[in-house]
Amino acid sequence: MADLLQVVRDDVRSLAAYHVPDASGLVKLDAMENPYTLPPELQQLLGDRLAAVALNRYPVPSYAALKAAIRDHAGIPPGFDVMLGNGSDELIAMLSTACAKPGAKVLAPVPGFVMYAMSAQLAGMSFIGVPLCADFSLDLDAMLAVIGKERPAITYLAYPNNPTGNLFKLDDLLQIIRAVGDTGLVVVDEAYQPFAGTSFLARLPEFSNVVLMRTVSKLGLAGIRLGYLSAASELLAEFDKVRPPYNVNVLTEAAAIFMFEHAATLDAQAAALCTERARMAEQLAAMPGVVCFPSAANFLLIRIERPGLSGTDVFERLLARQVLVKNVGKMHTLLENCLRITVSTPQENAMLLNALQSSLMS
Ligand SMILES: Cc1ncc(COP(=O)(O)O)c(C=O)c1O
Repeated sequence: MADLLQVVRDDVRSLAAYHVPDASGLVKLDAMENPYTLPPELQQLLGDRLAAVALNRYPVPSYAALKAAIRDHAGIPPGFDVMLGNGSDELIAMLSTACAKPGAKVLAPVPGFVMYAMSAQLAGMSFIGVPLCADFSLDLDAMLAVIGKERPAITYLAYPNNPTGNLFKLDDLLQIIRAVGDTGLVVVDEAYQPFAGTSFLARLPEFSNVVLMRTVSKLGLAGIRLGYLSAASELLAEFDKVRPPYNVNVLTEAAAIFMFEHAATLDAQAAALCTERARMAEQLAAMPGVVCFPSAANFLLIRIERPGLSGTDVFERLLARQVLVKNVGKMHTLLENCLRITVSTPQENAMLLNALQSSLMS
């Protein structure tokens, strides 16, 4: 086997696989999923719709109906189209593949979404991570300096950012987009837009270098794996060449179209999560030894600030109490002793708060 493994790229062999912990039996607050399921009557209707899908056929490659539903639902500006991905993860991989010229670079603030770096590296591009400021705002001077010196092919800005949860200043985004100019793409990643109360989408037509990316995952459809991006048609035409022709399956297509017809249900769930986020933030901030950072996403980042108690200690104590959150403390020095907690139902949030309260004691 050792000989056989030689055929695999050295850089791939030295990577650690993306680790997803087993959450069976746990209150799962580690992956920014929407905790709500569909009401039974919608489940029934969706079941009927899916039962009628022609599983024996390949998807219709234009995906015209799904794209129209997305344009309509998202309010994609007139004259702009979308490209679909098997989750935003696949869109990120496709952007990397399309732009991976020899020597091409990818820039993103760090800590940020890990797939930007991973996907760049897998495509053979070098990744430049510029640390955020201590308050998690963009270090604009540092970003502009790297843009001027390195001319990255792709700059990612998650709006709001994961794992910090904050929205970067709009003016900082604009300065970065203008500084990149026509030497690179700026991907504005709006994965958490349903909870953000703001969006860059309406400004897309102003900037030929901006690619706006979204996913239905956080809205409540993580399981169907669907992401989309919009950009100038000339760019979309190029990206589309690296897209596997049937990358979105017929069940995802039908389920997404159905859910956009019933978007009010998902919107109400997102609104409930925003209310819970505010309540949770208040309660977390009131706990001695816990700092809770402002969030425009469906998760809250907290820092454990208690002498003799690390974020990892609290993570493990929460786990012993059957609550799974994300221990992000080792991701970046700015996140020391930090935990990322998905906002969930009032019941699950109460379980988290109780478990955290006890975990801070013993
Ligand atoms: C900023 C950001 N972008 C994209 C994604 C990936 O979304 P998807 O589920 O569509 O692959 C995530 C997932 O956590 C994310 O945090």
